[in-house]
Amino acid sequence: MSIKAEEISALIKQQIENYESEIEVSDVGTVIEVGDGIARVHGLDNVMSGELVEFSNGVMGMAQNLEENNVGIVILGPFTEIKEGDEVRRTGRIMQVPVGEELLGRVVNPLGQPVDGKGPIETNKTRPIESPAPGVMDRKSVHEPLQTGLKVIDSMIPIGRGQRELIIGDRQTGKTAIAIDTIINQKDQDMICIYVAIGQKESTVRGVVETLRQHGALDYTIVVTASASQPAPLLYLAPYAGVTMGEEFMYNGKHVLVVYDDLSKQAAAYRELSLLLRRPPGREAFPGDVFYLHSRLLERAAKLSDEKGGGSLTALPFVETQAGDISAYIPTNVISITDGQIFLQSDLFHSGVRPAVNAGLSVSRVGGAAQIKAMKKVSGTLRLDLAAYRELEAFAQFGSDLDKATQAKLNRGARTVEVLKQGLHQPLPVEKQVTIIYALINGFLDDIPVEDVQRFEAEFHSWMDKNGKELLDHIRETGNLPDEDQLKEKIKEFKKTFAVSE
Ligand SMILES: Nc1ncnc2c1ncn2[C@@H]1O[C@H](COP(=O)(O)OP(=O)(O)OP(=O)(O)O)[C@@H](O)[C@H]1O
Ligand SMILES: [Mg+2]
Repeated sequence: MSIKAEEISALIKQQIENYESEIEVSDVGTVIEVGDGIARVHGLDNVMSGELVEFSNGVMGMAQNLEENNVGIVILGPFTEIKEGDEVRRTGRIMQVPVGEELLGRVVNPLGQPVDGKGPIETNKTRPIESPAPGVMDRKSVHEPLQTGLKVIDSMIPIGRGQRELIIGDRQTGKTAIAIDTIINQKDQDMICIYVAIGQKESTVRGVVETLRQHGALDYTIVVTASASQPAPLLYLAPYAGVTMGEEFMYNGKHVLVVYDDLSKQAAAYRELSLLLRRPPGREAFPGDVFYLHSRLLERAAKLSDEKGGGSLTALPFVETQAGDISAYIPTNVISITDGQIFLQSDLFHSGVRPAVNAGLSVSRVGGAAQIKAMKKVSGTLRLDLAAYRELEAFAQFGSDLDKATQAKLNRGARTVEVLKQGLHQPLPVEKQVTIIYALINGFLDDIPVEDVQRFEAEFHSWMDKNGKELLDHIRETGNLPDEDQLKEKIKEFKKTFAVSE
């Protein structure tokens, strides 16, 4: 066999061409300084902002500050092994995470790597974690309800699919509980949920995962966690990773709910990272772009137009306040970005009103358009009743001589508060919410002692399951109230069977 000279020269030529291009992709730099999770690297002249880089020991980093003669890189992993003089290679890729159905039911870190010990996740798709929000023409106004299963929210502060609703309150006021109950209530609602845990204790996250599993809600949920012990860059990235995984579903025409628990901790992590990168601090030592940090995240929530598949991504960001101060820097920022807020109050929580929603300070700017007709009809006066009650309650403590009208308002108010209470992990389908609120606003509970109201409700629901099923079905299927005389008749019938406690 003879070898032709031109074949050899072609091979050599090919080799030379490849050799050159290889040098180009793997632009290499050297570490000149490292500490506190930040490395300064010389020689990465062509690196892009947000590009992934790899240190010689395999740890990944993300290029953040592109300066004249060095690049500030946040290290996404253990940094104690990285030394001055180490090589750093460009990857040519902007930070990405794996996406797809394979992630459902799993617990992953912000890089999309599994942390639940259930083996590798076989996905073949990735998406860049920073991507532009859908434009104006790609959107449609919010018009489908997202049922949380919580009476107080679905009736007075309804959330629509594609909305951004802030949940804000002090520590230990039942914030996480609202998220979990909402996720549990999405069972069989054609909804995919993503719970992003930022800066929480690993034991807390574990508890959440366990609760979701027990209620069969893990099958349609992805948990993204960057716990308190992780480096700040991971906490900063977690929400973007979560929304990116959600977008994959949204752009495929599905409905997604993303919960960020909580953005205060993300902002604190971003502050830490920015100060270490020597970016100038501003108010409360946050960097100047902390508003953009949250706005570019929350703008990615959307209800897509029919041409784009009609998918939606609903965002429930959480913010923790200090001593109920909703006028601090991060709370006011996020309030101004979202379509409303649910304010949880610590004194309500401790007096036993749970969920501890302060109805006066909570609003939903778009969700009303998404409420079913029946709910809209019965919940109209609820907010006013409650406001009047809170106002009178303060007066009533002083005087005893109250006129009849005032007394009636107080009575109704006390029962309204009772009806709106709800235990942990007991989301209620919308048709049952409608029937009990209907009974309440039509005065059927006025002669039931306050301490019996919750038992009345529980027994009423199970009685209706047996004796008024067609009315419940009617509400669920048509979204309208059934024949009111029939409903009133049923309530009266049930009341005859109800035994008031002595
Ligand atoms: N509706 C409820 N009924 C009874 N208990 C509740 C209710 N909601 C919350 N709790 C209890 O209150 C405690 C605090 O709730 P949760 O962890 O949801 O609050 P949080 O605001 O998320 O707290 P943190 O600030 O620590 O994150 C939990 O032990 C929870 O079980
Ligand atoms: Mg919590």
